[in-house]
Amino acid sequence: MIIKVLGSAAGGGFPQANCNCRNCADVRAGRPGLLSRTQSSLAVSCNGEEWLLLNASPDIRQQINATPELAPHPGSGLRASPIAAVALTNGDVDHVAGLLSLREGLTFTLYASNRVLNALAANSIFNVLGSRHVTRVALPLDRRIEVGGGLAIESYAVPGKIALYLEDASDQFGTREGDSIGLEVSDRTTGAAFHYIPGCAAVDERLALRLRGARLVLFDGTLYTDEEMVVHGLSDKTGRRMGHISMSGPQGSMAAFAALGVERRIFVHINNSNPVLRDDSPERAAVERTGWEIAHDGMEIRL
Ligand code: MLT
Ligand code: MN
Ligand code: ZN
Repeated sequence: MIIKVLGSAAGGGFPQANCNCRNCADVRAGRPGLLSRTQSSLAVSCNGEEWLLLNASPDIRQQINATPELAPHPGSGLRASPIAAVALTNGDVDHVAGLLSLREGLTFTLYASNRVLNALAANSIFNVLGSRHVTRVALPLDRRIEVGGGLAIESYAVPGKIALYLEDASDQFGTREGDSIGLEVSDRTTGAAFHYIPGCAAVDERLALRLRGARLVLFDGTLYTDEEMVVHGLSDKTGRRMGHISMSGPQGSMAAFAALGVERRIFVHINNSNPVLRDDSPERAAVERTGWEIAHDGMEIRL
């Protein structure tokens, strides 16, 4: 199984268009030790011919153009694409807006939870993905289904939050089960499997049990500390308010994974405020000391 990180940044990307924080200013200026990053997405394939995208970011066109494997195969017809399917982990803008760039008659299957499929159905702009070309399939929670190309997906609810644009005034902003899911993607032939969880508010017992002993987990690396965006004057929202666990601290992801025995742990969906984006930061060193890796665009993993 080949896994390619198409985009390793959180919503807004790195640098973010309107952001003049130290990280964004430095990467924009080309300062060594910082890499620019596009928004959150992976591509997965067993055969290198047919690809499954995990999330469709607003940067999808740039990501496809940077990934020769995702270009139409020579001789495959006038209109063709190796992208056979897209699976979504939530309805956030950084994970669904790229679907609109897959209109133009691209034929694929779209997998998402019922909650997210309902959100797309309620928004008529997604009608550009008509049923003639795009088949929408609900991912059942806690059950593995075949998704073509020799791959299978099992989805499961994770602690999280409803998409920002759907929040209401009720408790938990109207969040329900299925608004935020993790995906276990497996190769049906070899049995190799990994977990992809780019948005997660906490590692509860159920999630810990599921991830214990996994070979590979790509996990929510939005923030290093919960108050990071508030402290830097970038936002009035904590990570907790946004539905994102932090990397550090006793309640953080590094602590939560410490006893889980996960072979390879990689942070994705990294916000531009996160100090780990700087190669020479103490936070980057701290993360790497615990055995975590920081994803970068174009990173390739074979399982
Ligand atoms: C998030 O990860 O919290 C969302 O992408 C935020 C957003 O939709 O702007
Ligand atoms: Mn996001
Ligand atoms: Zn910034």
